[in-house]
Amino acid sequence: MGEIVIKGGKPLFGRVRISGSKNGALPILFATLVTRGVSRLRRVPDIGDVRVAMEILERFGARITEEGDFLCVDTTRLEYTEPPAQLLSKIRASTYLIGASLGRFGRCRLASPGGCNFSDRPIDMHLFAAELFGASLSDGCLCAPSLHGANIYFDKPSVGATTNALILASAVNAVTKIRGFAREPHVMALAEFLVSAGARIDFSEDEITVVGGELHGGRAEIIGDMIEAGTYLCAGLITGGEITVEGVDIGDMTTFVDFITEIGASVSCTCDTVTARMCENGRPAALVASPYPGFPTDLQPIAAPLMASLCGGEIRDDVWRERFGYLSALSRFGVRYTREDNSARIFPSKMTAAAVSAPDLRGGAACVLAALAARGESRIASAQTVLRGYESLDKKFRSVGADIIITDCN
Ligand code: EPU
Repeated sequence: MGEIVIKGGKPLFGRVRISGSKNGALPILFATLVTRGVSRLRRVPDIGDVRVAMEILERFGARITEEGDFLCVDTTRLEYTEPPAQLLSKIRASTYLIGASLGRFGRCRLASPGGCNFSDRPIDMHLFAAELFGASLSDGCLCAPSLHGANIYFDKPSVGATTNALILASAVNAVTKIRGFAREPHVMALAEFLVSAGARIDFSEDEITVVGGELHGGRAEIIGDMIEAGTYLCAGLITGGEITVEGVDIGDMTTFVDFITEIGASVSCTCDTVTARMCENGRPAALVASPYPGFPTDLQPIAAPLMASLCGGEIRDDVWRERFGYLSALSRFGVRYTREDNSARIFPSKMTAAAVSAPDLRGGAACVLAALAARGESRIASAQTVLRGYESLDKKFRSVGADIIITDCN
């Protein structure tokens, strides 16, 4: 089991090139299963979750090769399979087989998805959508002798359920309408990939219309990872340095930029770079995580140590109401907090070095930030939990001056 070892207390300065987004790449990789042909994908991040997704696709017979900057996924000849539950349980995105396997083969065996278990993560909305396309669930298997178009209304936005509905709708030779959908940039990017593979998809203010059918290989450039970008910007701020991230769409980061400005950072942006440094002592802030275009829930754990290092503040999460388990790991670094319902109050705290285990992906990244701010040596066990979502984490942090190594992480 690898460890992230950090000697903190040094201000970080420099530029970080942001990788393709984890949550952008995974839906597109699974969506290749409903296409027949070669899909050419650029900027796919080399991270733990993507490697597991590729292994799952290969179990179905997909041939995955690298050609220069492109990852080529050939799904011309696939066979139905039920990948081992142990493999599926490594990533949450294995739930995208509901759309992908059902869409390609008319069936899908359900297994417990993995990923971060910071909260109850139901899949009732995914199943609801699959049933509207004509699938039925029996003995843990979703089956559909024939699929038809659907009229779907989700009563709250779900990235995963919208992803599955888009994949299934694109595979079915019929018209589907989806309302109450998630609007995250990576949902839009999935739709663009499906269009490049032959689906017709139109977005209006409150409805997606999909005309699906036989799909050929598609193409995509994975969008820049706004969560990774937010992580490096917070690392610059918490250490009293200045970091520029490049390769992200600034339009995706508006609420995050507003937040760091509110706590006292000076921020400058071009169309694909953001630079931030603290220009004042910091101000307390109130942050509410909510579905896009709200503040991303995946960045609220990252914001917590930064708030603690400044004037504190309050965090509420309206997406994952219980996503605060990471605070107990942060308390080992000196972060003081209280919790109530789906909120936490963070108090100004002096960061001290600690040894912890990464509680989950973003909680682990929050511990990395606390360790970078604290003087002395910190150790974060279960490094692979963090590397599930961050490409070249140690190299990128070293390039901006951090003293960080990762031990034995295989
Ligand atoms: N929900 C239901 N029923 C469902 C599905 C979702 O009630 O069937 C609820 C959830 O309980 C939650 C809300 O709907 O309260 C939103 O969940 P959503 O389905 O949008 O989340 P997800 O698709 O499971 C993805 C990301 C998460 C990210 C959320 C929200 C991937 C692989 N995961 O999860 O990313 O937090 O969207 O943006 O894309 C991470 O990267 O660290 C991560 C956890």
